[in-house]
Amino acid sequence: MHFKQYIYFRCLILKGLFIIIERLKMKIGVLKEREPENRVAILPEHLDHFKKLKLEVMIEKNAGLHAYVTDQIYKNYNAEISGRDQLIKESDIIVSVNVPEEESLKIIGKGKILISTINPLSYKEATTILRDNHATVFSLDLIPRITRAQSMDVLSNMATVAGYKAVLTAAVELPRFFPMFMTAAGTIKPAKVLVLGAGVAGLQAIATARKLGAVVEVFDVRSAVKEEVKSLGGKFIEVEGAKEDKSAGGYAVEQTDEFKQRQAQMIQDHAAKSDVIICTAQIPGKKAPLLVKKETVNIMTPGSVITDLAASTGGNCELTENDKTVVHNGVKIIGQSNFPSTMPSDASKMYGTNLLNFIRLFFDEEGNFNINMEDEILKDTCLTHKGELINERIKAILNI
Ligand code: NAI
Repeated sequence: MHFKQYIYFRCLILKGLFIIIERLKMKIGVLKEREPENRVAILPEHLDHFKKLKLEVMIEKNAGLHAYVTDQIYKNYNAEISGRDQLIKESDIIVSVNVPEEESLKIIGKGKILISTINPLSYKEATTILRDNHATVFSLDLIPRITRAQSMDVLSNMATVAGYKAVLTAAVELPRFFPMFMTAAGTIKPAKVLVLGAGVAGLQAIATARKLGAVVEVFDVRSAVKEEVKSLGGKFIEVEGAKEDKSAGGYAVEQTDEFKQRQAQMIQDHAAKSDVIICTAQIPGKKAPLLVKKETVNIMTPGSVITDLAASTGGNCELTENDKTVVHNGVKIIGQSNFPSTMPSDASKMYGTNLLNFIRLFFDEEGNFNINMEDEILKDTCLTHKGELINERIKAILNI
């Protein structure tokens, strides 16, 4: 064979091999969220990291628009832009912030991995569809609250955003200052903020309210948070006799009726003197505890503000309406359950980093894609696999 012909054929073979290798590369597809959600699961700044994992990234058209990222910016980072159906068809791993709508879930089947925040206790139907489709689903809200999983803890990061924004929103709505002011017109007293629940959102709310100069009081049923509250400058109000359960993984448990009555009275006494109440108390898989009754709101000063982060699970305040602001006797009750969506840039940055750290678990030390279902984090976070419900807690509660 002539030398030139030999080189030509060698090049053709190499090109063919290159095309095959490219095709073998795994693809990760980023879905566009449904409105009014503004976040997106992956930002351009995450793309190089996925490339290092040898994952190609496909972005659904306009997926980043509400987080201020255009398709062109994604393209500049070598991402491919595509329509939804094509993306679902071609991706090995599909990612989103919120559970996709039913139509999409129905076409995510065997051989596909979906990583999202499914919230299976609230969306039983989605779980059933995905299980019956034999999809492998990881629901990031199921990540165990253990030290090794901290870098993937979506719930904590989104709660941080929510706690911060809840206080800022209340500060904007309150017809008074947060800090104390000594002015020529006299002394302005600092605002009094009552925080109900000192989990991740509550602690962030305490820190933010303190930075703005408010005086902060806090209720929680878990005595473990007392020191954290104090260290942030909040005053912990203790109601004796709270029920705690070590097997609940650090979460709160339902309280006795007698405790609830005593707590309601204490909260009423403190609420009457508060300008702002930030509600964050939740019990996983249950309706949020009712902590601020209508009669408590009746005795609050008109102009006061209640921001209820538990709105989507019924609210801590009796008058809360999800995703609405209600005014009762001059008291504003803000039932915003998705504050992270109102800060899409940083919230998407945090979500994308958590997602990336989670996906890193799919690779072994040699960098090979190798999902080890014995890994505690993967096992707990896995909702469905091979037609079965995997997470034991969800399986026991859902009974499907
Ligand atoms: P959450 O969103 O489930 O609840 C918020 C807060 O409300 C909790 O502190 C809870 O005790 C409180 N609460 C529930 N019922 C109440 C009632 N009737 N009255 C007053 N307060 C009530 O909590 P979150 O933020 O998800 O944290 C849950 C647990 O996970 C905490 O123990 C937290 O420290 C732990 N955690 C551990 C992490 C880790 O080690 N990687 C990371 C994040 C959280």
